Order: sequence, then C-alpha cells, then structure tokens
Amino acid sequence: MQRLAPALREDNVPTDLISLIETILAATKEISFLVSQAHLGDVMGSTVDENIQGEVQKKLDVVANDLFKDILLESGLVKAISSEEEDTSVSGEKNGKFIVSFDPLDGSSNIDINSLIGTIFSIHEAPADMNASDPDMFKQSGNKQICAGYVLYGPATMLVMTTGSGTHFYVLDRTHGGFSLVERNVQVPQDTQEFAINMSNQRFWQAPMQDYISDLLAGDTGPRGKNFNMRWIAAMVGDIHRVLTRGGLFTYPADNKNPEKPFKLRLMYEANPMSFLIEQAGGLAMTSQGRIMDIEPTDIHQRVEVIMGSKNEVEACLGYYK
Ligand code: F6P
Ligand code: MN
Repeated sequence: MQRLAPALREDNVPTDLISLIETILAATKEISFLVSQAHLGDVMGSTVDENIQGEVQKKLDVVANDLFKDILLESGLVKAISSEEEDTSVSGEKNGKFIVSFDPLDGSSNIDINSLIGTIFSIHEAPADMNASDPDMFKQSGNKQICAGYVLYGPATMLVMTTGSGTHFYVLDRTHGGFSLVERNVQVPQDTQEFAINMSNQRFWQAPMQDYISDLLAGDTGPRGKNFNMRWIAAMVGDIHRVLTRGGLFTYPADNKNPEKPFKLRLMYEANPMSFLIEQAGGLAMTSQGRIMDIEPTDIHQRVEVIMGSKNEVEACLGYYK
C-alpha cells in the first residue's frame, strides 16, 4: 500500500502543503485514539458552555478543537485558523502561507452513542497582504480551496481528501501509525436510488423539496418509476462518506422551522470542503440557486442550503426548483 506522502508527491502537492496536511493528521490520530477510548478517558458528555452558534459543546468538541488549534498554531505554517468552536478567526504565524477552516468534531450528537463522527477541514492560501488577525482573510469562495478533506472515526479511521487531483480514500494503518492510500480517484455513481434528508423537518421545507421527496417516496408506481431507500446518520461526514462510496443524494434543504435560521450546515467548514470532495469525484454540490463553491462568503460561520451527491439525482431534484 502506498503511504500518504508519496501519494501526495505523485499528485505534485508542494512540500509545505504536505507538511500542513501531516500536521492536521497528527491531531486526528490523537482524536481517533480518544474516540476509541470513550468512557475510559474523560471525553464523554457535555460541557457547561455553548459555542457561538448556540449549540451545547460536548467535551470532545472542545478537546478536538484545542488539539487542532494548538498543533496548527505551533506549526508555523498557518497565518490563521477558523473553527466551528471559535467565535472568530485565531491568528497564527504572520508569514504563514495557509489558512485552515475546520469542524473539529462533526456529528457531535453521535459521540455519546458510540456512532459515526469525524473532522472536516478546508485549506486556502493566506492572502499575503492581509493582517493575520483579520477574519476577512477567510472570505474566499470554495473554488479557491487548495485542499479539503475529512477524517471519519468509524470502525476504521479513514481520511478522504482532495488537493484538486481527484478524491482519494486512505485508511489509518495502525501497524505503522500513518495513513495508506486504499482507493485513488473515487467516483460517485451518477445515478442512485438512495437519499439522505432529516424527514422530521418535512412540514418546514419549501414546496419544491416537498414535491421532490414525495415523488421519491411514491416509488415505482410514482413519477420516478423506481423505489428509493433512505439513510440518515446525523453526521454529515458519515452521510457524505456513504455517498462517495456508493452514490446517493444528500440534502439539508432550507426550512422555515426558525425563520431567522433557514439553513443548518455551515459553508466554510462543512459545505465547501464536502463540495470539493464530491465534485472531484464527479458528483454535483449545489444549493437550489447554484454551485456551493461559487458562493462568495460574507461570514465565517454562515450557513447554506446543501443538495449534493450523484449527478443525475441532484439535477432531478433541482428540476423541481425551476
Ligand atoms: O454539523 C451539523 C450536523 O450535525 C451535520 O453533521 C448533520 O448532517 C446534521 O447537522 C444533522 O442534523 P439533524 O440534527 O437535523 O439531524
Ligand atoms: Mn458539523
């Protein structure tokens, strides 16, 4: 099996970016160990705090965030970081070449049930002319990502990553402690009979999504003429991993449950990195209005509608919005 660094060199990834990726992965290996220890370490349950988005922070959210923050800021490679668990960006090395956005622990509600969770990251070049403490550095579209990936802490710890030359799967090989390449150029099947959505929000969706999902549920006697299966892991990393592996449509559509918060998923450290991975694997990553990676961000914690996965199914869904 090919190890990570030689695989990246084959894709002409520059040495300093390889160092940054290895720095990120060093933190994920610690998290992978902590997750596997569960109650044996002091990482289960909640803290007394909320993050800037008003979500209760789990202990592991905070531990994972601190691990990433410390290792990245000490590396000398990053000018600033931005995280789901930090109110604003945190500055690093003033001449650092990169900025990193991350969701240290996606799917936190799965921590206490010993189910799928992961870390999502997105890397951009740092604008040389901006101050390290300026959060506006992060206002770059997903198109400008130079690397994106996630680490899934499942039965196997897997890294799924792209540097713009396809999406590749790696597994943490505990015999040598590093990630090994297991599948190069993953392709999302263009057609699917599987979708992922939180059905409990159905009454809050807009009409086009209501119509689309009811046509899927109508199965082979409905307008789509085939039966569909549904899956929902409640961790975007888990659902997107399934879509990358065997196809599917994943959506967190707009809803009017809380009119001040029409979208759930965050652009910078959830939707953009997943879009880069899905598009590099031949899938589509959209909102009902256009490509996710074309969005010019206005806030590091902004939320966005997400419809992504198998190309033909995403197009079928978008057809309902026309
Ligand atoms: O980070 C947000 C997130 O946990 C995603 O990982 C996941 O896809 C979604 O929210 C789950 O939402 P819900 O709680 O509505 O099932
Ligand atoms: Mn998340």
